[in-house]
Amino acid sequence: MSIKEIYQTMEYGPAPESNKESEDFLNSHKRKFNLFINGKWTKPASGDYFESISPSTTEKLALISNANEKDVDDAVKAAKKALKSWVEIGGHGRARYLYAIARQIQKHSRNFAVLESMDNGKPIRETRDIDIPLVARHFYHHAGWAQLMDTEMKEYKEIGVIGQIIPWNFPMLMLAWKIAPALAMGNTVVLKPAEFTSLTALLFADICKQIGLPDGVVNIVTGHGDTGATLVNHPDVAKIAFTGSTEVGKIIRRATAGTGKKISLELGGKSPFIVFEDADLDSVVEGIVDAIWFNQGQVCCAGSRLLVQESVAEKLYAKIRARMETLRVGKSLDKSIDIGAIVAPVQLRTIEDLVQKGKEEGNTCWQPSWNCPADGYFYPPTLFTDVSPSSVIAQEEIFGPVLVAMSFRSHGEAVKLANNTRYGLASSIWTENINLALDIAPQIKAGTVWINCSNVFDASSGFGGYRESGYGREGGKEGLYEYVKHRAESEFKNDAPKLKTHEPSSKKENKSLPSIDRTPKLYIGGKQARPDGGNSITIKDTYGNYISEVPKSSRKDIRNAVEAAHACTSWAGMTGHAKAQVLYYIAENLSVRADEFAARIVQMTNVSTADANKEVQTSIERIYTYAAWADKYDGLVHHTTQRNVTLAMPERVGVMGIVCPDESPLLGFISTVIPAIAMGNCVVVIPSESAPLSATDFYQILETSDVPAGCINIVTGNKDELTKEMAKHDDIDGLWYFGSAQGSKDVELLSAENLKRTWVNYGKYRNWYDRSQGEGTEFLRHATEIKNIWIPYGA
Ligand code: NAI
Ligand code: MG
Repeated sequence: MSIKEIYQTMEYGPAPESNKESEDFLNSHKRKFNLFINGKWTKPASGDYFESISPSTTEKLALISNANEKDVDDAVKAAKKALKSWVEIGGHGRARYLYAIARQIQKHSRNFAVLESMDNGKPIRETRDIDIPLVARHFYHHAGWAQLMDTEMKEYKEIGVIGQIIPWNFPMLMLAWKIAPALAMGNTVVLKPAEFTSLTALLFADICKQIGLPDGVVNIVTGHGDTGATLVNHPDVAKIAFTGSTEVGKIIRRATAGTGKKISLELGGKSPFIVFEDADLDSVVEGIVDAIWFNQGQVCCAGSRLLVQESVAEKLYAKIRARMETLRVGKSLDKSIDIGAIVAPVQLRTIEDLVQKGKEEGNTCWQPSWNCPADGYFYPPTLFTDVSPSSVIAQEEIFGPVLVAMSFRSHGEAVKLANNTRYGLASSIWTENINLALDIAPQIKAGTVWINCSNVFDASSGFGGYRESGYGREGGKEGLYEYVKHRAESEFKNDAPKLKTHEPSSKKENKSLPSIDRTPKLYIGGKQARPDGGNSITIKDTYGNYISEVPKSSRKDIRNAVEAAHACTSWAGMTGHAKAQVLYYIAENLSVRADEFAARIVQMTNVSTADANKEVQTSIERIYTYAAWADKYDGLVHHTTQRNVTLAMPERVGVMGIVCPDESPLLGFISTVIPAIAMGNCVVVIPSESAPLSATDFYQILETSDVPAGCINIVTGNKDELTKEMAKHDDIDGLWYFGSAQGSKDVELLSAENLKRTWVNYGKYRNWYDRSQGEGTEFLRHATEIKNIWIPYGA
């Protein structure tokens, strides 16, 4: 045998990692785990346990408690009790605990890695080198944020008891992403691990005990979906943080609608992996291995849709197939495998069904020649080519090691294909041309864009989605806002602010001729428009005296306005400086007509002229505030641990619906509409229902202030009816609502279908004159999403 032949026929020997420590841990709990509540191991009230299985051996690892309502309630009570002193020990005190947790995780990192691999089926190489180091990094990073909270987050405070529900694909990493920022910002938590993978969370509970974390600060309740639902519905939980399926994300949105509970959702994806013809194809192949074969493809941000420029497609496919042939599927504790086991039979079946479907649809399927091990839940790496963009496998999340490829010709087509999905979590762009990469990155609707890399993460960079991939960010400074509330919130009132009113003196008008009727219309696409239904509503002052009619709009008018807003592409493309110029111009024109606007406010609300003047002047000031911010609301460059510059860029939400408060007809309109457009959004506005004429007068100002057609559309009528139409509309990306508690609930409930971003007031009143309540970066944050663009450097 020649040396060459020996090398070619040489088999890998197994290289198993020892699992002794993990076995010792399981045995120390007699392989039967209770719940971790108030710092103590507590038997489940139901007495019910279920099995946790190792997917790569099908061996039973341990029994896990199935928490019921009583257990969840006990855990929430413990967290609530622990809250006060956890806040009071201050940022530095909490930093010490988080630092201790990070150290302890590092000291036991191998045990965590092995246990995770056993319980989840993923390769030890990944848990050892990626998952667990990132977990420790997350606690270190957030120890820092705890330390800095008092100075860097002055305007914010903790939310309270946080319910956290995590999935099984990165059990320990998701725990860290949830618990570290929550504790840093002074909250206490009840966490429910996924039913397939509870073990590392229970090992983490032991760590909490070891470092002496105060009782009740962290509680771990294990169980199935119904345990999660109980946590979601508990009245004393102030916020739910969820990672998992889009389906359950929508359930949680509906379940919490109107309750005032904050939520953050990190859901599914079908992320594009875009390869341009000048990319380094050998690097691309390794990037694809990271994108879709990392963690068996069970990754929310997996690069599962390969979009490749036609000229290099066949060449790349051949390289991918050759690489797939060399991948090794095997037992999770074998140090020399690339791909482990699928987490559970139910997930394996879903993958098999979708692949079958892909074949039936006529797509070309390729798998390597070798077979997977027979025992355990394995699935081979799979490549589909010539896939039509509308086929099920190009649209549905497969959540397995299945790559779906299609080709494109032009750059524009690449962007269109990339965005042809209801998701928007991540994306990866491959080209040797940095100009091209940075031209494409902002055009992709996704929270993370990796340039010439894939699936890289760091605690200092935010992660999260657009559209049905959910909302909120985890990691980085942007992620902290999910775990705090603005201090001004505690000053909001249950009743509308009251200004003194005066009955109008009888009209002293010239009675010889009727005045020329000035009929307010809708303002859509830069034009005054009549309502589709041809109906009007009567506007009266606060004493019931007739003033005017305004159009009564319907669903059709909302649709037209949304279309017009989408058609306005010039506004988003303008620089911050150019937008500021337009806003200053609006202020200038309002100032010229200040008396007229004040008179209108007096006419509708019967306040004194002095009060009305104050409303107009405050409105002008407010426009100045956002003209100022238009070119200053910057992003950050995150110092991620790999050799990257990571640009955290605030981007516009898109087309937003804005439902203005009823009070302060002009100031309420300005305070909500102007920050939204300052950030590049185009808006459909429903003005005050009782006093809409300040808004309908305002389109004359817009017409003379260089505001592009479609940037601001004004639709009058029944506020809550129109709001519901906006909440249901699929092409509205964000919706702000200032009105009743019921209206707020409707917004949250009806917006669940396309998971549009919502910001509602739950029937509470702000004082729009108070700058800490009526203006500020809080408004700009709700008008933007952070996109993180990773640009590696060095050879
Ligand atoms: P899932 O969304 O049902 O499970 C995630 C977590 O939510 C688990 O802890 C589960 O117990 C809990 N849960 C389930 N129903 C709940 C409810 N009604 N209320 C509160 N909590 C609830 O996901 P599943 O069934 O494990 O996987 C199904 C699909 O979801 C996967 O094939 C994949 O497409 C997607 N998925 C996405 C993940 C991501 O990282 N974005 C993670 C896991 C699954
Ligand atoms: Mg489920």
